[in-house]
Amino acid sequence: MKSFRNLFLLLFLLAGTVTLAQVKPSPAPTELRMNQFVQGLMQKMTLDEKIGQLNLVTPGGGVATGAVVSQGVEEKIRKGQVGGLFGITGPDKVRSVQEIAVKESRLHIPLLFGLDVIHGHKTVFPIPLGLSCSWDMPLIEKSARIAATEATADGLCWAFSPMVDIARDPRWGRIAEGSGEDAYLGSQIAKAMVKGYQGEGLAKNNTLMACVKHFALYGAAEAGRDYNTVDMSRIGMYQNYLPPYKAAVDAAVGSVMSSFNEIDGIPATGNKWLLTDLLRKQWGFKGLVVSDYTSVNEMSAHGMGDLQTVSALALNAGLNMDMVGEGFLTTLKKSLKEHKVTQQQIDEACKRVLEAKYKLGLFDDPYRYCNVQRANEILSSENRKAAREIAAHSFVLLKNAKQVLPLKKSGTIALVGPLADSKRNMLGTWSVAGDWQQSIPVIEGMKNVAGNNVNIIFAKGANISDDSLLVKRTNVFGPEIEVDKRSPEEMIQEAVEAATKADLVVAVVGEAADMTGEASSRSDISLPKSQENLLKALAKTGKPLVIVLFNGRPLTLNWENKYADAILDVWFGGIETGNAVADVLFGDYNPSGKITASFPVNTGQIPIYYNHKNTGRPYNGEEFAKFKSNYLDVSNDPLYPFGYGLSYTSFQYGELSLSKTKIRPNEKLRVKLKISNEGNFDGEETVQLYIRDMVATVTRPVKELKGFQKVFLKKGESRELEFSIGVEDLKFWNSNLKWVYEPGAFQVFVGTNSRDVKEASFELLP
Ligand code: BGC
Repeated sequence: MKSFRNLFLLLFLLAGTVTLAQVKPSPAPTELRMNQFVQGLMQKMTLDEKIGQLNLVTPGGGVATGAVVSQGVEEKIRKGQVGGLFGITGPDKVRSVQEIAVKESRLHIPLLFGLDVIHGHKTVFPIPLGLSCSWDMPLIEKSARIAATEATADGLCWAFSPMVDIARDPRWGRIAEGSGEDAYLGSQIAKAMVKGYQGEGLAKNNTLMACVKHFALYGAAEAGRDYNTVDMSRIGMYQNYLPPYKAAVDAAVGSVMSSFNEIDGIPATGNKWLLTDLLRKQWGFKGLVVSDYTSVNEMSAHGMGDLQTVSALALNAGLNMDMVGEGFLTTLKKSLKEHKVTQQQIDEACKRVLEAKYKLGLFDDPYRYCNVQRANEILSSENRKAAREIAAHSFVLLKNAKQVLPLKKSGTIALVGPLADSKRNMLGTWSVAGDWQQSIPVIEGMKNVAGNNVNIIFAKGANISDDSLLVKRTNVFGPEIEVDKRSPEEMIQEAVEAATKADLVVAVVGEAADMTGEASSRSDISLPKSQENLLKALAKTGKPLVIVLFNGRPLTLNWENKYADAILDVWFGGIETGNAVADVLFGDYNPSGKITASFPVNTGQIPIYYNHKNTGRPYNGEEFAKFKSNYLDVSNDPLYPFGYGLSYTSFQYGELSLSKTKIRPNEKLRVKLKISNEGNFDGEETVQLYIRDMVATVTRPVKELKGFQKVFLKKGESRELEFSIGVEDLKFWNSNLKWVYEPGAFQVFVGTNSRDVKEASFELLP
């Protein structure tokens, strides 16, 4: 019956009596209502009003996220020259601005209100790189859900998140804002974030529209320098960089932000292949496409022409909304007259903006997100509790020699370091709505958790940096690096004295919050000298040395790895950092985080990532070999590999057992193994599965993550785990950019990180 219907349809098509458009499924009733509404409204709109909807402004006053701010915002709203606004919060404030649009503009069209809600709103969670180290999708989704609840209670309906840019270069400051180096994990996280923000399709007033960014490849800037050129093969994009954006689109993300960088020689914001062919046609994206901050205008500096030219280029490419630069507002009318853009293109962009407003329910109630009674949903004790739990899950134990951790809740601890008592640095970069004064510093958390039998002696020990230029450049948003009046020697001396009186030292060191983030690239990613000197002096005391490390990127930690007894990486854990750090240090929570970006031995190894190719002259171990792909002065291996992270307990992995050694494309392979908790603590492990395609028509990476499971085991407990591998997991992009599988030999690896694995082989039959 079905095949008869298909045949009938085919004959009809061949006869040319119906077009493909006619056989498309008809839109669902809600979509139909939206289409009718938007069309009806657009019939009433003048050309100027349509162009006005494409204008996204920021009035300034809050935390600056770009170099220029919009002028004359209220007047422009009255004239119908603004479609949306970002950078203000508060239901009252948002309402008063919305009222200008709704009451004083000719057509009463409500505005969109957006903000960079990146890792929480007022309840700030760990920076995204930290969050990704939890590998915990329900928790990640929960963080976005709480962020959306708070943001919508604060007047907002649009979050410029998730940021899903894959980054293989820790010099790049915005690596802090993403989920690391792996496209598979990044895709899972993208999905979880979109779901957390948007809920079941924006129906409720505590959900908001997400915006996946920065489309695309922004994380591949050459030399890790922000906004720098990106030059990448198509196959590399499809395989390693595009999947997380695609995952967000598949999860029905409402909007996409174009990136600053160029792709194939054309800036993303004016790149038709990217914004139309790939995003709309191949991926079927139906939402709103917004530029990044003045990225339309910046195409002039890229060398693409004057403002009118680049604005027309962007509209032609498929951009719908222009953030801050007002190129659309000031030039599109002229371009229409001169036939550089079409009416249809302007209509299309306007339609996308109005549809977003419709989906958010703003035409039903423009004040839907302006409810002052919801104030109690913000920074509630419940949300703070979740932030503490989520932060603890993001921390990664990098070293724990002789089980120095967890600490006993007795004795004397020397708590030293410039980040031990630094409220200002707990939230991390991109926490624009967060109030650092509400954050818990490490010293306070330690006192909260330690109980009465622990004596804590505090000494700052060093400034975050003594380099005055770095201090000035880092402190643009306030004195994150507070420079002490005392000399470095005096400060170190005080710390050494504290250490001498204590049983052990907890040194809280690392980067200031804004040493990562936008325009915060570093060419040297080691600890600043001032802190290195402090650590060396502390090590000399012979007291056990525990490092608590704050960082927004992988750092080079050779000395620290060699001489510290333990290293706990806590990224920037958000508002509850101090409590969460203490929970982990004292063993109330057993750390389970695993790094999602490789830690290089030195900057010369960058870019460094686990899923590299084998090359024709692979290097196979620590030893240098002439005529192999290696270095004279350093091994190829990272200091800590992707997926690495320790626990207070120890997990043993059994051998892999495969359900078959040969599978057909329609079959699944089951991979089983036993994992046992053989240490002295209950704990959670992230078991990771990788594959390798041994022979293919294009070169394939030495390992690719294809699955993971989080498993909680009580001490002494064992469990059998099962993974399933199907042909979808074995596919890749071939040189014709087709998503294919090829029969042949594969390896499968399961382990505690990308390096330490058990392995087995199987064959995919034709
Ligand atoms: C950033 C975006 C951000 C935007 C708005 C830009 O500078 O690149 O990530 O969403 O500003 O604040």
